[in-house]
Amino acid sequence: MGIVWLALWWHNFFLLWSTIDSQIRYTIPEELKQGYVVGKLAKDLGLGLSEIFDRKLRVASEAGKQYFSVDAGKGELVVNERIDRETLCGQSASCVLPLQVVIENPLQLHRIEVEIRDINDNSPSFLTKELTLKIAESTVAGMRFPLESAEDPDVGSNSLKSYTISKDDCFSLKVNELRNGRKLPELVIEIALDRETKAVHQLLLTALDGGNPVRSGTSQITIIVLDNNDNVPLFGNNVYKVSINENSPKGTFMVKLKATDNDEGQNGEVKYTFGERTPESVLSTFDINPVTGEMFLKGELDYESAANYEIDVAAKDEGIPEMEGHCSVQVEVIDLNDNPPEIVLTSKPSPLREDAPSGTVVALVGARDLDSGNNGKVTLQLPNGHPFSLKPSFSNNYALVTSGVLDRESSSEYNIEITATDSGSPPLTTKKSIPVTIIDVNDNPPKFTQPSYNVFLKENGLPGSMLSSVSASDLDFGDNAKISYSILESKVQDVSLSSYVYINSDNGSIYSTHSFDYEKLKVFQILVQAKDHGSPSLSSNVTVHVFILDQNDNAPAVIYPSTALGSVSHHLMPRSTKAGHLVTKVTAVDADSGHNAWISYKLAEATDTSLFSVNLYTGEVRTKRAVSEQDDSSQRLLIAIQDDGEPVQSSTVTVAILVEDGLNEPILDLRQKVPEPSKKSGRITLYLILSLASVSVLSMVTFIILAVKCVRNSRSSGSCCMRRDNFDGNKNPNRNLQIQLNTDGPIKYVEVLGGEMMSQSQSFRSCLSPMSEFSDFTFVKPSSTTDFKEMINVLDASLPDSAWTFESQQIPLKKKKSVVPPLFIVCVKLLYIGGNWNTLSNLSIQSISNMLNG
Ligand SMILES: *[C@@H]1O[C@H](CO)[C@@H](O)[C@H](O)[C@H]1NC(C)=O
Ligand SMILES: *[C@@H]1O[C@H](CO)[C@@H](O)[C@H](O)[C@H]1NC(C)=O
Repeated sequence: MGIVWLALWWHNFFLLWSTIDSQIRYTIPEELKQGYVVGKLAKDLGLGLSEIFDRKLRVASEAGKQYFSVDAGKGELVVNERIDRETLCGQSASCVLPLQVVIENPLQLHRIEVEIRDINDNSPSFLTKELTLKIAESTVAGMRFPLESAEDPDVGSNSLKSYTISKDDCFSLKVNELRNGRKLPELVIEIALDRETKAVHQLLLTALDGGNPVRSGTSQITIIVLDNNDNVPLFGNNVYKVSINENSPKGTFMVKLKATDNDEGQNGEVKYTFGERTPESVLSTFDINPVTGEMFLKGELDYESAANYEIDVAAKDEGIPEMEGHCSVQVEVIDLNDNPPEIVLTSKPSPLREDAPSGTVVALVGARDLDSGNNGKVTLQLPNGHPFSLKPSFSNNYALVTSGVLDRESSSEYNIEITATDSGSPPLTTKKSIPVTIIDVNDNPPKFTQPSYNVFLKENGLPGSMLSSVSASDLDFGDNAKISYSILESKVQDVSLSSYVYINSDNGSIYSTHSFDYEKLKVFQILVQAKDHGSPSLSSNVTVHVFILDQNDNAPAVIYPSTALGSVSHHLMPRSTKAGHLVTKVTAVDADSGHNAWISYKLAEATDTSLFSVNLYTGEVRTKRAVSEQDDSSQRLLIAIQDDGEPVQSSTVTVAILVEDGLNEPILDLRQKVPEPSKKSGRITLYLILSLASVSVLSMVTFIILAVKCVRNSRSSGSCCMRRDNFDGNKNPNRNLQIQLNTDGPIKYVEVLGGEMMSQSQSFRSCLSPMSEFSDFTFVKPSSTTDFKEMINVLDASLPDSAWTFESQQIPLKKKKSVVPPLFIVCVKLLYIGGNWNTLSNLSIQSISNMLNG
């Protein structure tokens, strides 16, 4: 626009120039103050001071702006406005302002020129004050980068002259001068750039002009070194060592790897991965965070399958091409005691016989542990109290053997609990039970519930009734415990025992096949055997003592006076008989025993009851008073004899007494010192005395023997009894005597039962009656032994010294009323069991009464 305007101005100027011919030229510097006098225009035009006003001297600028004006008073051209040469003339070397001077009256046109000289009022300046350059770090040295040139509107020497740049080792400045004189600054790379050393360079480019003083302008140049992927990611260590417990949970942090890459941006961005040839086992076990480099556990660690790992880890940057660094992670797996020991049965336990000897192998046992070191060291233990032990064989193998006596009866089955413990910390244990069954061996004989059985059986029982029941048990098992009962064969009175009893072999019940008679058989033994069904079988014996209990089934039998020859026995008695005269003595025996044989005598009827009395116990018939003349010469007495049994059995005997007037001296009066000889009765009396005396002597001898024994063994006093201390007479055939002591009732008696030495039918009885004035001592004479003394000797020899005590002896020898040597009333009882009692007893009674009667 200015240019256009200027051209137009110049056209008018040269037009006027041709019309007015005058030339005035002023030269002024630019940038003058208002009012500065450029020149004395009026004077130079030749005008007087008065004409200046009259002719209206004025200047007109052809351009729009009135830079100058005419001072009306002095006619001087003065600066009216600031003049900037660069504005008016730009870069042209000369700058002239044409002015038209107008003078009226008459009109005259003059042209003047004002040349405006340049002053250095402008500094060189850069269009962009801050310049940023990006240069790749790989750029080679010597490379040039053009910079922006600076502008200085001034001209001439005031215009731009040179450039400088701030110091930097990497850069230098080179100025290129173009053909039109323009100067272009260029940046030259002196040495290769390294972003990692210095990423940004700051340079100050300064443009200088040639004025005086020198003006300058600057531009800030920022050089950013562009990164090049020239650095490898580098790990802090080449090898990382990690120890980690096996069985650590998934996700356990292991190690943080750190690789550094000095490059920038993607070139320095490191991603972590496992190396290319990493095996699958590592990949499935470990995990690495690609960004942070933290390694974690992804799978399960098992020391037993892999104790350590060597892992190659790569760090790659994102540059193109990528750079890669490596390191190695050594993972050591720490063994934990995570495997419990294992007990392996290498052979099945076999059932054991209970008689298996100590050391018998029951089973083979092995111990394992997958852990290593102490964690895998296993010890086996057995609980105490078992008859078993472990015998070590080779490496962790053991034999379970018996170490004691087995007894199925106390423990039929064992559950042997083996405990395996490793030596880890804490130790792990495993238990295993090994069942062992014990097989029964027939080692227990049947055992009876009692050591012996006693059966008390009433005589005359029903055949076929159950006597007793024995029972045995066997601790063994099965057939070894199955029991059969049998009766061992023996003889009872020469008859086989099996004809008396039989046994139920299954349950031991014993039955009789007979009814028993006490008078024939008082006691017998049954030997019962219990036998188990084992192989070989075991057995036990037990003795069943069968005692037949007496029943009162025999009536007293009168021995004297005999009733067999006639119905009545006759006795003579002188009329001069005094009171207390022994007329006769009734003697009876009872086949029963005990109370059933305890005989008492009573006067049942009499012709004159005031004359006679009968001793209740002895059966003596005595006169109560002296016989008088008024008494009948024929007296008849009915004497009742009864036993003490239940029910009472009794018999009677009739005694006829003839009172003779001529007979003065009673023959049988025992208190009479001198017996009067008589022809008829004297002989009978003599026989009686002889027989009684002989029996008395025998009794006496027996008593003395017993008394001597008694005194030898015991000095205590009391009632006389014989006690059997030791009941093992069966064992010694020489002492085969059974003594039965009965103490019930008023009568005490000792019964001596003979064994083998004497036949079983023989018995020996002593009756001691404390209630009796005269104690009875009855010997039962063995039927086969006629010599009584001999029997006593045998008896004496068979009496064991220790087995007998004879505690006192006073009754039989004490005789208050006796005047003659002590008299013993001896009742002789004959027993024959198994034979015919009646015939024999009748015979014996007959023979005795014959003897007595002469
Ligand atoms: C034994 O068996 C017989 C016959 O079966 C029976 O009568 C008896 O009562 C039994 N004895 C016992 C003690 O059970
Ligand atoms: C049982 O008695 C029989 C016959 O006397 C005998 O042979 C056997 O040895 C006895 N058994 C026992 C266990 O005593």
